[in-house]
Amino acid sequence: MCGDAFKLFDEWLAEARASEPNDPEAMALATAGADGQPSMRMVLMKGHGPGGFIFYTNEESVKGQQLAENARAALLFHWKSLRRQVRIEGAVERVPADQADAYFASRSRDSQLGAWASDQSRPLDARATFEARYDEMKRRFDGQDVPRPPHWGGYRVIPERIEFWSDRPHRLHERRLFTRDGERWSEGLLYP
Ligand SMILES: Cc1cc2nc3c(=O)[nH]c(=O)nc-3n(C[C@H](O)[C@H](O)[C@H](O)COP(=O)(O)O)c2cc1C
Repeated sequence: MCGDAFKLFDEWLAEARASEPNDPEAMALATAGADGQPSMRMVLMKGHGPGGFIFYTNEESVKGQQLAENARAALLFHWKSLRRQVRIEGAVERVPADQADAYFASRSRDSQLGAWASDQSRPLDARATFEARYDEMKRRFDGQDVPRPPHWGGYRVIPERIEFWSDRPHRLHERRLFTRDGERWSEGLLYP
């Protein structure tokens, strides 16, 4: 059953890659910290499977702080050209350091320097300050590989619920819900 959900996700993602004008891997990430106030933003999915849906970010950002307080999240893909959405919910864990290192090493040098230069989610007095920090990082790592910053890493949302929504005529949309209880997945339908 679990295989069905991930097979279906792979099929839909493949179709989205063929049809979306950009970023078919973009997903909305909802988190809430200890105060319970939900917060959302887009991130890019950088890996997926039964083990989780992975994204990378600054661990000291708002989302990082909220996940430190409450390690649960919801993800949403909306593939407009296909008129489909996928909703995923579950607990969140950090990606192991060696996996984050490997992904960081695969990024462009400019993105690596940007990760060092950005105090993500903190107030910035002027764009020039950020650019100066970026230039400073360029000088700092000149002639050497850029290591992964200690505050930068990956998270995986380990799915407990995955819902596939597809548009149907007359608003008789289809909703297929896969839920996990321990290792066991079950599937059902929801009224639209
Ligand atoms: C399409 C898209 C993809 C994005 N991907 C990422 C990402 O993978 N990681 C990330 O940290 N921010 C990404 N961002 C920026 C985030 O939406 C957000 O502005 C930033 O992470 C700060 O969020 P926070 O203050 O809630 O932590 C992306 C934005 C867009 C529009």
